[in-house]
Amino acid sequence: DLPTTFDQPVHIGVIGGTGLAQLEGYEPIALVNPVTPWGTPASPISILSHNGVNIAFLARHGLHHQYAPHEVPNRANIAALRHLGVRCVIAFSAVGSLQEEIKPMDFVVPDQVIDRTKGIRPFTFFEGGVVGHVGFADPFDKKLADIVKTCAAHMKGDGVVLHDKGTIICMEGPQFSTRAESHMYRSWGGSVINMSALPEAKLAREAELSYQMICMATDYDCWHSYEDVNVEMVIKYMQANSQNAKRLVGGVLDQLSKLDHSDLVLAKHWEGASQGSVKFM
Ligand code: ADE
Repeated sequence: DLPTTFDQPVHIGVIGGTGLAQLEGYEPIALVNPVTPWGTPASPISILSHNGVNIAFLARHGLHHQYAPHEVPNRANIAALRHLGVRCVIAFSAVGSLQEEIKPMDFVVPDQVIDRTKGIRPFTFFEGGVVGHVGFADPFDKKLADIVKTCAAHMKGDGVVLHDKGTIICMEGPQFSTRAESHMYRSWGGSVINMSALPEAKLAREAELSYQMICMATDYDCWHSYEDVNVEMVIKYMQANSQNAKRLVGGVLDQLSKLDHSDLVLAKHWEGASQGSVKFM
């Protein structure tokens, strides 16, 4: 029975991944399903109220986890958040570990990403005569990363381990890597591996959203043992750690809701450039 339209500003967005399909403990005040030029997002967006501040929550894989990583409607997801007025996005993802010291259930705040998607996912808003190039040297937002690190530091006593930098390898999937690939990614300096960081982070940058992914390790990728990675393993660790994941995201939202989000907006790629002709609705 929640309203399906919402016209107040919503500056904070959360994209929940596998293991964070909803945010509990917040008051839902609307459930909106914007139709963007790129279709509808993977799930209706919940508008939640927290300390009087509005938060938009979107389940990346859909409410019933019906979108595999290569099927996620990334452009609609990002355009819908942007349309609602979102300025900064915290995106959550389960990852495999490529490093011994990143143990299952540890968190990682990545600062880099290597693109191993295969170019089959729609990956830009700039096409069809709208020409634009954005910088992506540092794909994540340092201010948001600092907030996540501070929150995790406060949770150390509860057994929360957070690695404060790292390189995500974003692979196409849906199959997991071969052992040879897994070793190659380690030789490249990869810290963790997932199937969801891209093109989401690229599209967020094009849409001028500050964006930080929080990764939770759910397995050692197959370099580590003779066992294959399997979904049961991923789900087992995810469930074991979902309380910590929710508390960490909750802590980050507490901090973000105290800030002025205009501070969190990245450089204005859109102003004065042809990019301005991309309309998000
Ligand atoms: N997501 C969680 N674990 C993963 C792995 N080992 N490889 C790719 N994506 C993952």
